[in-house]
Amino acid sequence: MTAPRPLVAGNWKMNGLKAQLKELTELAQGFDDALKSKIDLLVCPPATLVCPAANATNGARIAIGAQDCHTGVSGAHTGDVSAQMLGDCGATFVIVGHSERRADHGESDATVRAKAKAVLAAGLTAIVCVGETRAQREANEATAVVGRQIDGSLDALFDPAKIVVAYEPVWAIGTGLTPTTADVAQMHEFIRHRLVALYKEAGAGVRILYGGSVKPSNARELMGVKNVDGALVGGASLKAADFLGIAAAYR
Ligand code: 13P
Repeated sequence: MTAPRPLVAGNWKMNGLKAQLKELTELAQGFDDALKSKIDLLVCPPATLVCPAANATNGARIAIGAQDCHTGVSGAHTGDVSAQMLGDCGATFVIVGHSERRADHGESDATVRAKAKAVLAAGLTAIVCVGETRAQREANEATAVVGRQIDGSLDALFDPAKIVVAYEPVWAIGTGLTPTTADVAQMHEFIRHRLVALYKEAGAGVRILYGGSVKPSNARELMGVKNVDGALVGGASLKAADFLGIAAAYR
């Protein structure tokens, strides 16, 4: 199987008022045919901007995603949003199990799996996040932790064509620190083996993104690592110029 088509994804986190949508216009201008032929581009704004962002990028081949969803379709869950609602707004991806949600909202692997299931049931693609903390890496537990997260957050019954995995070491998020390319290669190969164990040949086609302090200056090196099929970008996705600078790693 040929390597999966790269995906460069932006996670705006809890950032962005309506004025931020102008970055999408700039992004659409910079996402030229040469780049479109090589990669998929995705922006995940806060839930409030999913609808207008999908309208703003209509026709630009920039996909819009959400950062979280409820496990259910509808019902008495005040303040929550379902994957179906996000799809109705034009989202085609939903991030689930980001470490900030695992930490801030106590989301377990079982919850993340239920959310991923809901995303797939809504016909959308789930970006399932995994990654170890600094303490876990220092204790040489990184692969064991990520292995447990993969096993607990994915399901052999999921359609692998609708799954993306994002490896985001918690200690690399928003810190300017990144693992060595050797460490990234080792973890992505480990994740690839787990995906092949779960989904057989189709596991080779599941995109594995790297996330954590990806910038225009380090994107080429990180995206060049074997089994790195794109990036999940936080801070540097907020400015179209920076995000395009990261995507340019694939030019
Ligand atoms: P930064 O790119 O800001 O380190 O964030 C990474 C991230 O958490 C993306 O989901």
